[in-house]
Amino acid sequence: MLKGKTVLLGVCGGIAAYKACELASLLVKQHAEVHVIMTKNAEEFVRPLTFEALTKHRCVTDTFDREHPEEVTHIALAQKADLVLIAPATANIAAKLAHGICDDMMTSTVLAARCPKVIAPAMNTNMYENPVTQDNLERLSGYGWTVIEPVSGLLACGDTGKGKFPDPQFILQYVLKELAFEKDLAGLRVLVTAGPTREALDPVRYITNHSSGKMGYAIARIAAFRGADVTLVSGPTALEIPAFTNFVSITSAEDLFREVTARSSAQDIIIKAAAVADYRPSHVADEKIRKSDSDMFIPLERTPDTLRHLGSHKQEGQLLCGFAMETSNLEERAREKLKKKNLDLIVGNNVKVPGAGFGTDTNVVTLITEDSVESPGIMSKEEVAGCILDKLLSLRKQG
Ligand code: PMT
Repeated sequence: MLKGKTVLLGVCGGIAAYKACELASLLVKQHAEVHVIMTKNAEEFVRPLTFEALTKHRCVTDTFDREHPEEVTHIALAQKADLVLIAPATANIAAKLAHGICDDMMTSTVLAARCPKVIAPAMNTNMYENPVTQDNLERLSGYGWTVIEPVSGLLACGDTGKGKFPDPQFILQYVLKELAFEKDLAGLRVLVTAGPTREALDPVRYITNHSSGKMGYAIARIAAFRGADVTLVSGPTALEIPAFTNFVSITSAEDLFREVTARSSAQDIIIKAAAVADYRPSHVADEKIRKSDSDMFIPLERTPDTLRHLGSHKQEGQLLCGFAMETSNLEERAREKLKKKNLDLIVGNNVKVPGAGFGTDTNVVTLITEDSVESPGIMSKEEVAGCILDKLLSLRKQG
């Protein structure tokens, strides 16, 4: 997602410097060109060679480096950067950057850079909470910096509190948000549903399906990267909540109906990737159902069909996208749902097709509107998300 982008990663002297190695590696895996600048103190924690091996670029540490006399290193790096990321940042660097002090390679380069800047402070809780540090971070935010809050937990110094460096994957999300996508969904409110529902039988058991949530989470993540104000309504999954989304947790089809319909009128686009149970036990036992030797029958009743409800209460200008999980006659059945539920777009997938459907990182979808059918072939769920959002944007432009 970062092909053609240059990230200038500033690493400062704190124990979290070792996590910056993973961050550099994650950025490289996204095909970013990564240049690392280390402060003198950072070199006490990690060797420059580690970053050089990971990024395949010289790690810059000294203002008076004479290896490339033809260019002024700090200006050349500042001009090249699409993003400056200081991670981990010490209280000292935050103070210097907030006041324009440039007494080493890192501070001089950052002061010369005109691109977006992100800082991820990590330090002892008392240092972080000190009003001076807070003022400095606020000042940086006032100058347009994005400040990633540290997390709470057990710190290397033995204290417990706020100051831990976040997971490098989490920091990567900020870089992707800044650099990876055009903000073509800015100003739009998008609600996405994801994951399975669980319909209780008794206090111990439930009926569910194989949805992992991956498809819906990918849509929510990409929509947020593209600038939308995203609400993700999700059944139980094992996935990390996507960054930059408003997250609503649900369990049953009834919960999903309540939470989605409460928010639906405010949405520009609703995308329903959740695998919602069509039936639930008509009676939920108060006690665990005991074993017996005779046959057992579970009477079922219909759950509310949220998508159908949304289709019959569609707001002016609102776009509604459903999914259809089929095992045969995909196009015909998906088209029936498109009509019956008054949808603008339906995304069909067949669980029997290799690489499609539940739990996989890929999907094979057919995008169907009233007058078009597109089958883009097997793609990652992120790429499928991109195609769905592109299609919805083009429908929106058509009016
Ligand atoms: O989560 P993953 O493991 O990544 O898998 C992705 C997926 C297979 C779950 C996803 O791609 C998908 O197909 N989701 C929809 C599955 C489904 O429930 O299809 P359906 O044909 O039964 O339902 C049609 C549409 O009506 C769906 O948009 C569904 O959200 C909606 N619906 C269904 C029943 C109900 N009571 N209320 C609803 O809103």
